[in-house]
Amino acid sequence: MKIKLIIGALAALCAAPLVSSGQEQQQYVLQTQNNAVVFTTNDAKVALQYFGPKLDASDIQSLLASRLGFNQNTYPAFGMGEDNFNTALSLEMPDGNLSVDLKLQDVKEEAIKEGKQLVFTYKDQSYPFSVKQYYRSYQGTDIVSTWTELTNEGKDEIKLLEFASACVPIKKGDNYLTQFHGSWGCETYMTESPLPVGTSVICGGDAVRNAFVSQAGFMISIDGKPQENAGRVFGGNLVYTGDYKTNVVATQSDVTVISGINPDHSTYYLTKNETFTTPEFLMTVSSEGKGGVSRAFHRWARMYGLHGSDSLRDILLNSWEGVYMDVNQEVMDKMMSDFKAIGGELFVMDDGWFGDKYARNYDDKGLGDWMVNKKKLPQGVPGLTVAAMKHDIKFGIWIEPEMANTASELYEKHPEWVLQQPNRPLVQGRGGTQVMLDMTNPKVQDYVFSIVDNLMQENPSIAYMKWDCNASFMNYGSTYLPANRQSELSIRYNRGLQAVCERIRAKYPNLVIQDCASGGGRVNFGMLRYFDEFWTSDNTDAMQRLFIQWGDSHFYPARAMASHVSASPNHQTGRVVPLKFRFDVAMSGRLGMELQPSTLTDEEKVFSKRAIAAYKEIRPIVQNGDLYRLVSPYDGGAVSSLMYATENKDKAVVYVYRISSLNNQYVPTLCLDGVDENKTYRIHDLTPQNEKRPCILDGKVISGRVLKTRGLDLGMLVPRFMSSVALELIAE
Ligand code: GLA
Repeated sequence: MKIKLIIGALAALCAAPLVSSGQEQQQYVLQTQNNAVVFTTNDAKVALQYFGPKLDASDIQSLLASRLGFNQNTYPAFGMGEDNFNTALSLEMPDGNLSVDLKLQDVKEEAIKEGKQLVFTYKDQSYPFSVKQYYRSYQGTDIVSTWTELTNEGKDEIKLLEFASACVPIKKGDNYLTQFHGSWGCETYMTESPLPVGTSVICGGDAVRNAFVSQAGFMISIDGKPQENAGRVFGGNLVYTGDYKTNVVATQSDVTVISGINPDHSTYYLTKNETFTTPEFLMTVSSEGKGGVSRAFHRWARMYGLHGSDSLRDILLNSWEGVYMDVNQEVMDKMMSDFKAIGGELFVMDDGWFGDKYARNYDDKGLGDWMVNKKKLPQGVPGLTVAAMKHDIKFGIWIEPEMANTASELYEKHPEWVLQQPNRPLVQGRGGTQVMLDMTNPKVQDYVFSIVDNLMQENPSIAYMKWDCNASFMNYGSTYLPANRQSELSIRYNRGLQAVCERIRAKYPNLVIQDCASGGGRVNFGMLRYFDEFWTSDNTDAMQRLFIQWGDSHFYPARAMASHVSASPNHQTGRVVPLKFRFDVAMSGRLGMELQPSTLTDEEKVFSKRAIAAYKEIRPIVQNGDLYRLVSPYDGGAVSSLMYATENKDKAVVYVYRISSLNNQYVPTLCLDGVDENKTYRIHDLTPQNEKRPCILDGKVISGRVLKTRGLDLGMLVPRFMSSVALELIAE
């Protein structure tokens, strides 16, 4: 193996021999903006030794020579001794042998357009099976990723039993695990607890709506209860649309994360010359607490991981909570005009616009029949795009392409296209009739592609689609896959979905697409590779959204987080929330509205118009800025607060929400972590209830150092339950 010289701390990659450990090892370093990952190799394994702040060459030598590295195998495989527990890979060879014996064959260092890549190639010692393991650093970010390719080089099938993407050691300390769980209407609830000794499992369980029960992203702190701006924290997330599983294995001395596709019920048969590619696992470490981890992921998402992040996102009105399925030409036309009058930029017609024989008036009919309902929309979708043009507003439309109702012409024609199991009754979901199409079937893939394609061919001005998914695998079976491949259904379904998304993106790169699954059921970086944003939750109650959005903000940037002002009392919780509070919450994500604008009073229209205009002013800061979470709603105190700042901190937006109804409760002083201490900021109240009476800070000029270290007193700013303030800070 060629030995290279260490090229210093600034080198993106370096390899050098390490002789002092007794056995000759090669070393490799992958660097990000602030971090380094150090690997050593010998002919048996690749060991991850270090992941943390950059070290110079002599530090690395010293770390390795003194054996202070993790020295942990990065891809432990079952069956050959020391790695029999907590494995990343296990399989059954054609002759029934359950073991894998990998030896490192080759290492490549590659410069790629995203940054730098290391490729470790292993071969089994006795069977025709190989593994390629990738590590990639993304230029301009602090994210490193890893994944593998598993190849059957023989002619007989190999049964894959476990096929993780990553096995990563985390520093043992006073570890806490931060994870995000939920269900419909209360997605992404954050829990933080000391990491117990033993195995903590985070897994989706639902093959399609993988984020309802729990999200794939998690953080592990090293220095005790996680803080926002201090302490070392590891963050990991999987770029996958389907079922995932992460084991956090803690012993008395070590912590290891093993993450990848959930292998439960998903045995995969690797055929002759076939390569199985595991999804990318993203990771970072930060010394700036959870805030540093989130900013690293947001930056990565904006630069690499989120479709369409090169433009600002429109302010939209979605018709769902305004009229539900009672859509028609006149009502849509009026909603467009009313929304345009208060500054709206895009109108989206939600569910209820399609179906002929099985008209979609309730949720029990019509999915699959994507022809327009001529009774409701006599001029078809073109009638709506013409109306949108007349009102000078963009137009978008709702679809749920992976689904059918059994009450549909599609189901009558192709009953074999829906997921089903032999000798079992068909389990039907929403409306008592909803079923899922079998995306493993190429004909179904063509059909799903054609739903988007036909709409776009007929109406090229459609600017936005909301792609919904209101079911999970209720019938775990495919008529397309042979009997002995049913266990591959979940994996092949998600491959089919991804293939369709690839085709859509190749043809329609500029179409904005929302990733919705009964709310936030599909919030993951697998989907967001193709989608521009996600619907955070069907629960639009601003008070509860603070908790949900706080959770989502740990990994997903504000520009992707659709956040809508809806009616009061709220349709999901019945809570009465002031319009200003609703706007101040929605303005901390991608602002939209979800109500019937004609029901707004004149005063509310005036306020909405001002708030929308204010959002346009701060939109680049929210959508492209760095997030600083200041006071968590989960802390149970009087307020919650967060801020966004531009990269050079010349502009910022601060939101403060009074979330407790207790009178005279202690209100903390708010220190603004996201300002530059050496700048001076002029403060502007973005959404005063009364334009002539902005808050007391409006117009004040305060130094960054004072804002950051002394902080702001909030008592006067948010004196009552559900009062709020949104402030813009501009450096003078
Ligand atoms: C799901 C979505 C909603 C709405 C309805 C339409 O519940 O999450 O936003 O689009 O479907 O049926």
